Amino acid sequence: MEKNRSTKAARKGLGQGLRRLLVTSALPYANGPIHLGHLVETIQTDIWVRFQKYSGNEAYYFCADDTHGTPVMIAAKKAGKTPEEFVAEIQREHLRDFQGFQIQFDNYYSTNSPENKALSEQIYEAAKKKGNIDRKTIRQLYSEEDGMFLPDRFVKGTCPKCKSPDQYGDSCEVCGSTYSPTELIDPRSALSGAVPVLKDSEHLFFKLGDYQTFLEKWLAKGVSTGIKRKLDEWLKDGLRDWDISRDGPYFGFAIPGEKDKYFYVWLDAPVGYMASSKNFFDRTKRESWDSFWKKPGSEIHHFLGKDIVYFHTLFWPALLEAGGFQKPDQIHVHGFLTINGEKMSKSRGTLVRGSTYLKFLEPEALRYFYASKLGSGLDDLDLSRDDFISRWNADVVGNITNIFSRLCGGIAPKLDGKLGKLSKEGKALKKAALETAAKTAKFFEALEYAKAMREIASLADSINRLIAEKEPWKLIKTDPEQARTVVTDALCSARILASLLKPVLPSFVAGVENLLNLKEELTLANLDYEFPSGHTIHPYRNLAARIDEKEFEAMLEEEKKLSGTIQPAKTPGPGASPSGNAKPDEKKAEAKSSGIITIDDLTRVHLRAGKILKAELVEGADKLLRIELDLGEAEPRQVFAGIRAAYQPEELIGLTVAAVANLQPRKMKFGISSAMLLASGEGAGLSLYVAHRSAKPGDLLK
Ligand code: MSP
Ligand code: ZN
Repeated sequence: MEKNRSTKAARKGLGQGLRRLLVTSALPYANGPIHLGHLVETIQTDIWVRFQKYSGNEAYYFCADDTHGTPVMIAAKKAGKTPEEFVAEIQREHLRDFQGFQIQFDNYYSTNSPENKALSEQIYEAAKKKGNIDRKTIRQLYSEEDGMFLPDRFVKGTCPKCKSPDQYGDSCEVCGSTYSPTELIDPRSALSGAVPVLKDSEHLFFKLGDYQTFLEKWLAKGVSTGIKRKLDEWLKDGLRDWDISRDGPYFGFAIPGEKDKYFYVWLDAPVGYMASSKNFFDRTKRESWDSFWKKPGSEIHHFLGKDIVYFHTLFWPALLEAGGFQKPDQIHVHGFLTINGEKMSKSRGTLVRGSTYLKFLEPEALRYFYASKLGSGLDDLDLSRDDFISRWNADVVGNITNIFSRLCGGIAPKLDGKLGKLSKEGKALKKAALETAAKTAKFFEALEYAKAMREIASLADSINRLIAEKEPWKLIKTDPEQARTVVTDALCSARILASLLKPVLPSFVAGVENLLNLKEELTLANLDYEFPSGHTIHPYRNLAARIDEKEFEAMLEEEKKLSGTIQPAKTPGPGASPSGNAKPDEKKAEAKSSGIITIDDLTRVHLRAGKILKAELVEGADKLLRIELDLGEAEPRQVFAGIRAAYQPEELIGLTVAAVANLQPRKMKFGISSAMLLASGEGAGLSLYVAHRSAKPGDLLK
């Protein structure tokens, strides 16, 4: 990747203030909270932007919420809000969470903005003028009941290849094959359960193939070689026309000159980068927006995950070319986050929200951890508890903080906090620190953060070694001036170390700046510095606290509660584990317990009101009904309930019943059952518990 990385960067180097950079992270969807996966990207980007800013370059970091599309429209409806109200609220939450992790955007905007509308229309009109827009009639599934065409993810049915039931309209989770929703056997609307019909509709297409030659040229420098190879495969097969329109109802921008047609969300989403920067530059008048998007001489960098490369490396540059705008200089792609070795999953409660993390753990511990793991490639990275804890406790607390606590806590106060002159050894250490800085800066530039963190850790080792050899705690008694020299030598290099760490740990380093009583903030442009003789530092205040595995576990527990999934605890107390999962000796303990539970035990069971959206017979199972239950979540849950003897499917639809929402999902022959309905009685005499007055789906029973 470095090979392709901006040669401008290599020429200009560190701290010369010559580059002008516009940097973005992919725009998070406005249909859910920020989770630790999003933060891999924003932390990676924020470190890079801060590195550029501290190096003296002119850098701007822009992002926004991606607000349009069917999922947002439906989530808003479920929440009883207009889409505009809904996305405004989510945007506030997203920004709050990002700020909690010290992400320093220059602007965090929204794709549902006037600037974005105007720019999207402008690009579309330009493409149309160039003859890049085609019209084609396509056949799609339409749900009369929902009054809309159903996007792939809103159709469910039986996989045409392996015949697994309950698969999405675009791909099968069981056999992995992809298909079109019209191929699905027995398709149903995932919203209402209604049977959709095929209906024709005219769509607008962007003829990507018109940009084949342009893209081949642009790709030669805009992406890493690994990604280019992948894209070459697509290019080789010829580029297909891209459907850029959607029929109403749709939350998005109406297409000018068309009736009830809207831009597909992926058309206006990347334009959101431009809109966010336009809003910022128009507001602050700091720069001209044109100088970034219309004229050469500055750089545009996009950071994103490997799942959305296609959109950013084919459609996006082609749209920019159509509109007559500057193209990205570099697309930086990262891998995916896993937690304790597993893919993050909402149903397992491991899709940890940023806000949940912040309740229990230090934001900078996550920044440091990601930095210590990230390289420039597409590798996934794993957040495992022990690794996470040991990075922070060993590197940041044990190694780096130790330098400051030993010198500024125990020794400096005995010298009135005054520093002296550097010794020969101090100068040699400083020289080594500056060499480390040069290497570290190259690593930051090339997104090789893990290597940068190793450089910094080894500098900390050298400083600690000097302190250990000189034993200033002994010198303070025998030769205080010698002790002062050791403190000065070590702190001069520690100051360089802190500057290098600042892009990753801005708050921690703010603490160091305060401790060292610096007149000017640390940057990467003033590394070669010596304290004036007699400079006084402040008394030591703790810079970083150790973290404990209990806090990490508490975070996971809390997330499970929030997402309504509780797994059996590792060492369950009597009665705590569902008996189906209990080991024999635990079963004995359960039997021995008095049967009395505390209120805490009760709150472990999430009893919620669930609205039955759909109920149907299950072929091959004469006791079961398949039910789609609305628990107030983004999507209804599937439940297999043994109530067929007592209920006809039709009489259930619309009832609000009591359900256990956090029972471990059960894999059955027919699919996964993700909740349990409460009932009493047997066979035909069985009775469900139905809400007496109006109850909202998801309401807690208490
Ligand atoms: N809205 C689109 C992006 C539009 S950009 C014009 C989108 N949104 S997203 O919320 O699903 O993802 C936002 C970014 O977070 C993407 O770059 C995505 O790759 C990244 N991540 C989402 N989950 C992730 C992990 N588990 N791990 C690392 N990054 C992940 O895509
Ligand atoms: Zn299949």
